[in-house]
Amino acid sequence: MKNVYLHEDGKAVTIIDQTKLPTVTEYLTLGTAKDLYDAIFELKVRGAPAIGICAAFGMYVLAGTIETGDYDEFLKKFREYKDYLNSSRPTAVNLSWALNRMEQVVTSHSDASVPEILGYLKKECMDIQEEDSQMCRAISEYGLSLIKDGDGILTHCNAGPLATSRYGTALGPLFLGKEQGMNFHVFADETRPLLQGARLTSYELDQAGIDVTLICDNMASIVMKNGWIQACFVGCDRIAANGDAANKIGTSGVAILAKHYGIPFYVLGPSSTIDLDCATGDDIQIELRSPEEIKSKFYEKPMAPEGVKCYNPAFDVTDHTLIAGIVTEKGICRPPYTESLANMFGKNKK
Ligand code: MRU
Repeated sequence: MKNVYLHEDGKAVTIIDQTKLPTVTEYLTLGTAKDLYDAIFELKVRGAPAIGICAAFGMYVLAGTIETGDYDEFLKKFREYKDYLNSSRPTAVNLSWALNRMEQVVTSHSDASVPEILGYLKKECMDIQEEDSQMCRAISEYGLSLIKDGDGILTHCNAGPLATSRYGTALGPLFLGKEQGMNFHVFADETRPLLQGARLTSYELDQAGIDVTLICDNMASIVMKNGWIQACFVGCDRIAANGDAANKIGTSGVAILAKHYGIPFYVLGPSSTIDLDCATGDDIQIELRSPEEIKSKFYEKPMAPEGVKCYNPAFDVTDHTLIAGIVTEKGICRPPYTESLANMFGKNKK
């Protein structure tokens, strides 16, 4: 099933509402800037690459609503929409990366007519999705080279097809291995507070016939101690130049546990998630979300005193020293990351 696509009339973006999964598969049609902003902010579409793809399609849709033939006016309104969508979620760099690509199309065609620019924008957003699909496939192949048939893999949050375009990143090697007749035992952290692991990862793997066991986040240590985990595979939302990697809250704790038990911890992500302009993880803005996600969202009634203070960071940064490898579509970067990432993705590297 396709999680994000451009409606055939080009006037809306269609997404699967990921907040309703796994019990209800409902598609939403997003035709306005507010629809798009809300869908991203509320995690109806989520996962770093999928957010970028949705925003790119969204910019094409919104560009089509700008009623002017004047280039400067068009660019001004285009940038207003871009800034608005960009403010929906701060941590995943794929959002601004995709929006910048779309803006670049407009600024590099200042001599073209608005209808011509719309044609270029349509091609660009379709390319962004297709390239993501190809990157996920390559990441899956590199990731699969790190594990063997029968291994136990622990993952956190959801970095599967729903979060990307196809295969996913952290889950990609597991889907690819399954296609090749391999069997893995996957342990999926439920991923409090929004339960992406329980609702999405266990669903995607189960649907594909991959052996998956759902655990609460605080059970990762015992399954590692039991000897059931041979590798940890997680996705990422932004990778700094030194290899520090932001991902769903709780990821850094998994990495610390993995180090304790001597289990390799791998981060899998496309080049669109690598931000060499961020020197270290300290430069990554961490999204803070509503206390209600902790206190009441998935409970029948509130599970904490009404006025209690909550701290709800949506992401944390895993220190590069805990990461055994960063698996990208171009290959596997190994420490020291400042060198390996720059060699693979630095300026002038295509
Ligand atoms: O808040 P979310 O659900 O968008 O967070 C998603 C993650 O942290 C994923 O692991 C990350 O975006 C990688 S998706 C390939």
